[in-house]
Amino acid sequence: MNNGSYFLKPNIQVEPLFDQWYAWSHLIAPATACRNVSERHLKIMDSYINAPQVHANAVKNPKMLGGPFIDYKGKRVDEIRALRDQTKSQRSALIELSAAIGELDTLLRTDANGFSLQPLYKSVPDALKGRVELVYDLNNNPSYRLIEPLLYKSKYYDESAQSFMLSIAQSDDRPFILSTPRLEDNQSVHLKIPYRHESIDELFRTKSSARTMGYIQDFFDMPAKSAELFQSFFTPQAPRPYQSYEGNGVRWRYFGHACILIETAGVNMLFDPVLSYTYESEISRYTYADLPDKIDYVLITHDHQDHVLLETLLQIRHKVETVIVPRGGGSLQDPSLKLILKNAGFKNAIELPEMDTIEIDKGFIMGLPFLGEHCDLDVRTKIAYLVKLGKHSLLFAADSCNIEPQFYKEIHSIIGDVDALFLGMECDGAPLSWLYGPLLTQKIQRAMDDSRRLAGSNYEQAIDIVNRFNCKDVYVYAMGQEPWLGYVMSLQYTEHSRPIVESNKLISECRSRGIQAERLFGEKEILLNP
Ligand SMILES: [Fe+2]
Ligand SMILES: [Fe+2]
Repeated sequence: MNNGSYFLKPNIQVEPLFDQWYAWSHLIAPATACRNVSERHLKIMDSYINAPQVHANAVKNPKMLGGPFIDYKGKRVDEIRALRDQTKSQRSALIELSAAIGELDTLLRTDANGFSLQPLYKSVPDALKGRVELVYDLNNNPSYRLIEPLLYKSKYYDESAQSFMLSIAQSDDRPFILSTPRLEDNQSVHLKIPYRHESIDELFRTKSSARTMGYIQDFFDMPAKSAELFQSFFTPQAPRPYQSYEGNGVRWRYFGHACILIETAGVNMLFDPVLSYTYESEISRYTYADLPDKIDYVLITHDHQDHVLLETLLQIRHKVETVIVPRGGGSLQDPSLKLILKNAGFKNAIELPEMDTIEIDKGFIMGLPFLGEHCDLDVRTKIAYLVKLGKHSLLFAADSCNIEPQFYKEIHSIIGDVDALFLGMECDGAPLSWLYGPLLTQKIQRAMDDSRRLAGSNYEQAIDIVNRFNCKDVYVYAMGQEPWLGYVMSLQYTEHSRPIVESNKLISECRSRGIQAERLFGEKEILLNP
């Protein structure tokens, strides 16, 4: 064995898992995790065990994209059965918490009728006793507040479910995260380490700082059966060096989806990190190799799986000084993102309230309210960012939906014009049940579900923002069209899909008025003068 220096190869895919299911933010917060285990994972696995061929056929049907179907071609049923049985036995506490959430909802529905809630505390299920506050709104509609920090300290936050699966990424093709658990095979190495563990930082540091193979082996203490494969994930070849921005103005680079890196001489910031690995592809893109050694700010707009991608966040954690997140938390549909990231090992996550600012070199970051796109659920963990750098102002509105034009009129009266707008326009959006279904404790009517969507701005809503802020540059995100996002988004648009039609309309209208406008795709670099 060559005992020289080795780097982690740039195409090693490292998926964080929760009981073999791809980990996303709702699998960290205990209350959302328990509901997803009982109402998503176990149900999908039961269904596959009963009818694997139905799943195999559904996965091939483009109309069923993103549906609850396991992508193993009808095979590996015994392994799915073993995973289901293991989940039932090892996650009995989470299954109990999930049932308790259902029971609490029933209790409130039947017994909270406008009178004092005090007598109801004795009937709160044990799993939630001492961890919830029962409340009414001003019209006597009962609800409860989850004391999330206490749940994280209880047996319901169990890090033994957490692990990482390492394998070689050779193409953009990966199974959809919400429907297919990751089974072990002889091409992958399974590291049973919780997300917060510092050895994960050490692993990802090895992408740019070489270590000896002896050190790597001792550090990760691989079982013999995985040792050889694990070694093959490292290479003596150093990665290409990163060229940071040296100018006096601003450089921004689009990495795909809503992920943008801004650099100036004094500060850098990365929005909604969602990165591709580095491998041969026809579509050119920036990857992990195109990040600076130190990232001053990571900014997250909202807690959807395509904007809070743990897989990327954990890989860059060692580089990140501060993560800025929206303020929220305390309810089942709206777990605190700060607590999620804290428990995932980020010691430096701060919440930016609406209309509050953070000073940065030659400017500031301001949090702006983000409306809509959450199926009319009371989710507060969402924020848009106005970034002011010298004479430039950029608005990262992400999936903000302009549901009420008066809102942007108000905002404009406070912040004035904005040079560049970055906006997603997924104006169809999946129905409520697609993402939040496991959290519901009563069935929602189909028609209601269809009317409550994860929908961003359409043409009319988007052009109103452009008009309001007198934007000079308009960039629409690719909205899941980059193929390396398929496993997170599971969307395939045609030229007739509404998000494409509506964003095309926006772009041509802007261009007809001399406004620079485009729908981003793959990669883009723009330099702004000092
Ligand atoms: Fe979203
Ligand atoms: Fe999105």
